[in-house]
Amino acid sequence: MKYLPEMTTKTLQSRRSHGEGISTTEVHSSPKNYIQMLDFRDNCYNVNDFQILAKRYLPKELYEYLASGTDDAQTLNENRAAFQRWFLRPRVLRPVGNLSTRTTLFSHTVTMPVFVSPAGVHALCHEGGECATARACAKAGILFGLSQHSTRSIEDVRRSTIATHPNAIQFYQAYILKDRSQTLRLVRRAIHEGYQGIILTVDSVRFGYREPDARNGFNALPPPHRLVNYDEPDADNDDTPTTTTNNNNPTLDQTYNSQEKKAWDQNSEQMFEQNVTWNDVTWLKSALPTNMPLVIKGIMTAEDAVLAMEAGADGIMVSNHGGRQLDGCLATIDALPEIAYAVRGHVPIWLDSGVRRGTDVLKALALGASAVGIGKPLFFALSVGGEESVSFMLELLRTEIEAAMAICGMERITDITPNLVTRHPSLFSQPTPTLSNLRSCL
Ligand SMILES: Cc1cc2nc3c(=O)[nH]c(=O)nc-3n(C[C@H](O)[C@H](O)[C@H](O)COP(=O)(O)O)c2cc1C
Repeated sequence: MKYLPEMTTKTLQSRRSHGEGISTTEVHSSPKNYIQMLDFRDNCYNVNDFQILAKRYLPKELYEYLASGTDDAQTLNENRAAFQRWFLRPRVLRPVGNLSTRTTLFSHTVTMPVFVSPAGVHALCHEGGECATARACAKAGILFGLSQHSTRSIEDVRRSTIATHPNAIQFYQAYILKDRSQTLRLVRRAIHEGYQGIILTVDSVRFGYREPDARNGFNALPPPHRLVNYDEPDADNDDTPTTTTNNNNPTLDQTYNSQEKKAWDQNSEQMFEQNVTWNDVTWLKSALPTNMPLVIKGIMTAEDAVLAMEAGADGIMVSNHGGRQLDGCLATIDALPEIAYAVRGHVPIWLDSGVRRGTDVLKALALGASAVGIGKPLFFALSVGGEESVSFMLELLRTEIEAAMAICGMERITDITPNLVTRHPSLFSQPTPTLSNLRSCL
């Protein structure tokens, strides 16, 4: 896989074509950080702007890997379009002088109902990798989800965050591997380090087909990047990851980051359990400390929401993987109402996929979510300025949420209820409220 040299050349060309006159020496003297020379503060005014900026400077194959959806990208696009088919019903003349976006997620107070969804390979975009993202989240006072497929280890991410933010709230995201004991070893490492919850992703028994990656030949982690969690701790010393060779019983690292240079989806499919069932959820839950919440990520139907609760889930994450898995399924915001109806408040519902605006957050909360996650924007923010620009992006989003809440007459997150949203009358015929049922909403 060709990578950094091309990245430098392409970016140089791209900057020249924008007339920014950067010299070859400048680029080659600092190849990893040249994107940071941009001031994202001058270019980014909302979450989408980070993507626009990153697209100009990232190598095409990396940008497309991050941004693309599967097949026809119907679900990827729908994730955004669907938010725009829900409308807000603002209430006026309600005091909002003491407005707060604070809320509680599994007994942890967070500054806003937004978290970073677990997503692998942050280091492709910035050398700080997941450590940089996690620190920005801790600084912002929001929950960070660490992927099993991270490029900075479970231990490094936790330790580098709590060094400066001891109260950081971090959940670890697991997949069920064919060898369940390996899943458990990873989860136990996370618990040992102090992660406060586990997210189990269940929508990835196979990987969705992203044509841009096939066209670009972007099918393996470009060296020197590796999925470092597969460096297993030495049996004698839990703190020392090892990749020791043992041909009879290969380590996770040998299987995954092997020298065979298999495509990463082949590696994953070789390791991931395709016969995963709800019994695995029950099994994983029973292996966790009793106070450790288990959130099931990738639920798209009321049926599965009920089964997840029956299997022991403490939370449900409505997610279609940001349109990166099954193309042709509903946007999450449209799947949410039936799931909320089925869950009936028994467990918290989280949602991700397509959330980009403060008003999206309000719509999701009104339809039954208690928090929303963001995925792709993190990669774009990391690309254009590492930890600092992630912080900046989260601050922009918080400001939008505050403004939207104020204009809607909502002083507290708990004020956001289903009557805050509606369908456009031309899309969805609603009975005109009679005076008697209107009275009950006042
Ligand atoms: C590059 C990339 C890698 C991802 N890796 C994972 C992963 O390792 N585990 C997981 O559960 N979800 C993963 N996701 C999905 C995200 O957790 C999340 O569901 C999705 O990005 C949310 O949609 P959004 O990108 O529109 O915000 C990944 C997403 C992206 C863009």
